[in-house]
Amino acid sequence: MISLVETLENDGIVEIDKQYPFRPGRNDSILKDAATQRVVFFGRCIDTQGIKALGSRNTEANIFITDRAELIRGKPVNEETRALSQLTSQPCLMYEAPTQLVDKRLKAVYGPESPFWVGNKLVPCRLIHQPMECNDSHGDSADRNGFPSQRTLRRYRRLAEARAGITWVEATSIGVAPYRVYSRARKDQLTADEPHREGINTLTDEYKSVNRDSLLIYQLNHSGQISLPADAGVTPPSEVVRVYEPKGFDARPGRMLTKEDIWGIRDGFINGAVIVEQSGADGVEIKGCHAYLLSQFLRPANTRPDEYGGPLENRMRLFREIMEGIKERIDNPDFSLWVRFSMYEGDVTVSGHTVLGGIGAKGPDSNVFDEQEPMEMLRCFREWGADGFNMTAGMPAYNGDLWVRPPNPPEDFDVDDPLTYRKYHHFEYGHLANRRNGGVFSDVPVIASGFSVFGEQIAQVLFNVVLYDIADAGGIGRQILPDPDRERVLNGTANYCKRKDKCCSELLVGQGEVGCAVYDEEYKAMLREQRKHFTAPWRK
Ligand SMILES: Cc1cc2nc3c(=O)[nH]c(=O)nc-3n(C[C@H](O)[C@H](O)[C@H](O)COP(=O)(O)O)c2cc1C
Repeated sequence: MISLVETLENDGIVEIDKQYPFRPGRNDSILKDAATQRVVFFGRCIDTQGIKALGSRNTEANIFITDRAELIRGKPVNEETRALSQLTSQPCLMYEAPTQLVDKRLKAVYGPESPFWVGNKLVPCRLIHQPMECNDSHGDSADRNGFPSQRTLRRYRRLAEARAGITWVEATSIGVAPYRVYSRARKDQLTADEPHREGINTLTDEYKSVNRDSLLIYQLNHSGQISLPADAGVTPPSEVVRVYEPKGFDARPGRMLTKEDIWGIRDGFINGAVIVEQSGADGVEIKGCHAYLLSQFLRPANTRPDEYGGPLENRMRLFREIMEGIKERIDNPDFSLWVRFSMYEGDVTVSGHTVLGGIGAKGPDSNVFDEQEPMEMLRCFREWGADGFNMTAGMPAYNGDLWVRPPNPPEDFDVDDPLTYRKYHHFEYGHLANRRNGGVFSDVPVIASGFSVFGEQIAQVLFNVVLYDIADAGGIGRQILPDPDRERVLNGTANYCKRKDKCCSELLVGQGEVGCAVYDEEYKAMLREQRKHFTAPWRK
């Protein structure tokens, strides 16, 4: 039997064992020493059934079981390990591992460059590109709204070259037959419906022609009450629609959705997912966040009197119908289904209005966070087939700077002290979604948001986030505009997002094409031009 120390010393020989009979949990990894063909189990020993199966399948294997916390301290493994050793009839090594070797192996298993599983697919690294809508999908001419333009294609080619673990395609509007009116928030928003099928194919091809290793996941959205109004003068027209009577902080008027409208929207999401799958992309994400339509349904404030409002089961009905419909229509086991979820929409808007009855609030008239309901929602999403969760918080149109895209980490956050990490709300929500209590979430990856504030320390923060069970991967949003490159972002040499003047958000709210107006001269000029006729609310 080789010792763990020898295994650790064998540099660069570790590969993930793809034959492994059960899916490792988020942070647990089954590695195979390619030189000796021995199996090394790294992580907490929660899946005794899987360990048993492994033992019976491969009697040659030595299984080194370790607990991360023990490993960090370089101490022998615990009682649980001994029990598992008996279960598998495999010897489990007791060891004292030298710190530098432990550090090296920890990096290989939990570091930003380490792979993780999503369903049947191995994601090559833990740095993720979050969806960033850039409002430049106007094809080659004005009547090609919703199709990628040359600039859109150029952006995604750059993202493909950047080689993150997953690239999320920006919020992509669904269409509702007969495709005359779209409820979309952007003038030139990418669209996934039957009339735009060719555009989705082109975009997927562009990305995949450069990079077939990273996953490409489209975020599907309907903008609901955040949509452009009918008098916005866009082509094709857009309209504001509402789930429940206007009240409180979100009193925008809009046409109330009928049940027939809701069924059309459901079919629009399902068809959008099918079009994305047929384009050769790796998955879709249903947008249940940031105050767009599906989050409006989920809120306690949704007191619609029919079966789509009121009790939790009713508020989640449309989500369930969409997810189950997608699972029914798409039987490709490699195609993953994600949910982006605002675990808490916040307690207040930037203008000081109280947010009553948002997602995560105790009830329709409360703004106090209570994790019970959002946790139940995550449990349901998992039951209906979610392969992963992309966690976020807040509502850009109402409290974006406070909750969605903070300007800085909290003051008491210490990059070197993971005990302070949960003070950052994005990490707290990742952690809640990630926790193993009940085991429901141990088999699906969780992505945490809000990494752009860490600049050249992104790699260190991401390592700690994974190591300390906060999330499986970390998503950069604003950072993908100045520089999305995995290697540069992780090794400290990228152009780091300065969050200066919220330039990218300013371009977006002014209905401009979005890019980095700090580093990129083209977007700098666009912002100067936009400021001549549009003043962002926060600059007034
Ligand atoms: C200009 C802009 C566009 C965005 N577009 C989307 C989007 O299409 N879908 C989405 O879920 N989030 C969107 N976001 C939010 C980001 O994905 C991300 O969650 C947020 O910026 C926080 O991450 P960061 O600190 O790394 O930027 C957008 C943010 C900005 C600033």
